[in-house]
Amino acid sequence: MADSTPIRIALPKGRLLGQVVPLLEAAGLAPDGEGIRSRRLILPGPEGYCFLIIRAADVCTFVARGAADLGIVGRDLLLESDPDLHQPLDLGIGRCRLCVAVPEHGGDPLARPPGSVVRVATKYDRLAAGFFMQRGLQAEIIHLYGSMELAPLVGMADCIVDLVETGSTLRANGLVERATLFEISSRLVVNPVSAVLRRAEIEPVIDRLRRCVEQW
Ligand code: PRP
Repeated sequence: MADSTPIRIALPKGRLLGQVVPLLEAAGLAPDGEGIRSRRLILPGPEGYCFLIIRAADVCTFVARGAADLGIVGRDLLLESDPDLHQPLDLGIGRCRLCVAVPEHGGDPLARPPGSVVRVATKYDRLAAGFFMQRGLQAEIIHLYGSMELAPLVGMADCIVDLVETGSTLRANGLVERATLFEISSRLVVNPVSAVLRRAEIEPVIDRLRRCVEQW
């Protein structure tokens, strides 16, 4: 028997939403503009679909637990948490890079002798620790939720591992990029159970988005 509940698509709040909505509109799949401007967290969409507006860091959790069938999430978060999700499509939006950045006029923590401890402010604990370990350095991770750039300025960290898009936040705070860990863009993710049980509804969504991405 066909499932009559709408397909739920989890969208990330914040900066990325401004790039996601035009892509969804081009695919004929967007929530209505009034809904987006409201404080509502469940928005109706075209018939058969609805949208959940979620903090970017929580999108994987909602999709992995089946609370949403589909989601849009940055590659940074997928690499950090390695969730059990299908990733059928790179949407090519939200492009940025995950970098090590250091104070412009400070020492270079990456040039320290093997085995040295480097204090790293980041929200990407696993990726940052792995990056420094591969270089023979021991990362002392200082987990922060935002404003990472502040940590080296006040002497709390030697460097940061964070996303860089335009570089203006680094420049405004006297930091420079020292190394790139990963190039980042946003991905469409699918709950593996939904991918099987609701394939007939999900595959057309993937196809429509793929066609838009190709022409974007
Ligand atoms: C992100 C990131 C950097 C900044 C980089 O923060 O953490 O601070 O954007 O962008 P830029 O290179 O264009 O300056 P965001 O503003 O999303 O806020 P957050 O600190 O809450 O993550």
